[in-house]
Amino acid sequence: MKFFIDTANIDEIRIANDWGIIDGVTTNPSLVAKEEKDFRALIEEILGIVNGPISVEVISTDTEGMVKEALDISQWSENIVVKIPMIPEGLKAIKILHNKGIKTNATLIFSVNQALMAAKAGANYVSPFIGRLDDIGQDGLQIIRDLREIFSQYDLKNEIIVASIRHPLHVVESAKAGAHVATIPFGVIEKMFKHPLTDSGLNSFLKDWNKTQK
Ligand code: E4P
Repeated sequence: MKFFIDTANIDEIRIANDWGIIDGVTTNPSLVAKEEKDFRALIEEILGIVNGPISVEVISTDTEGMVKEALDISQWSENIVVKIPMIPEGLKAIKILHNKGIKTNATLIFSVNQALMAAKAGANYVSPFIGRLDDIGQDGLQIIRDLREIFSQYDLKNEIIVASIRHPLHVVESAKAGAHVATIPFGVIEKMFKHPLTDSGLNSFLKDWNKTQK
C-alpha cells in the first residue's frame, strides 16, 4: 500500500519525506488555506519535495470552471493530480479531463456507488472519506472493503485512496482491505511508528552498553 501525506504544510511534508516512506501528497482547499501562502507557490514547493502524485483541488463547482482550473493546474507538473468533488458537475469534468489525458482524484466520496461512478467516468483515484463517515456513526472502512472487492471483480485499474484517516488502526485496516493508497495526516504517521516498548527497549540496550564502556 502506498502512503500519501494529507497536508499542505511544508515542514510536515519535508520531515515525513525524509523518513523515506512518502509516495505522494494530497491537499484540499482547507489544508491550503491554513498555510496562508500563495497557492501556486505552495504547490510548487511541495512538488519540489515529493516526487510522486500531488493532488490539488479545484474550487469551481461547475463543469466548465473545473475543467478550466484543471487545465491550468495540470500544467504545473506531470505529477499533478487534479482533485474534483464528487458532484454531477464534477463527474462530467472527470470524463472530459480523462479524455484529455489529465489525471484526476474524485474527492468527497462517501458511498460505494459514488466511487463506482467516478471510476466509470475515468478518475485515476477515488477518495472515500472514512473518518467523516465514522463521525456520523457509519462504518467508513466497509466502503473500502466493498470497493476493493468490486474493483478486483471487474479488474478496474482506478486506485482507492483511503482519506479522512484519523488514527493508526485506520491505516492497518485499510492495508488489510487492500486499499491502494492511504493518505495520512502527519500526526497519525508519527503515532504509527511510536511504541513505548521500542523506546524503553532502546534505553535499556544503551544503558547496558554504556556500563561496559567505562
Ligand atoms: C483527502 O484527500 C482529504 O484531504 C482529507 O483526507 C480530508 O479529511 P478530513 O476529514 O480529516 O478533513
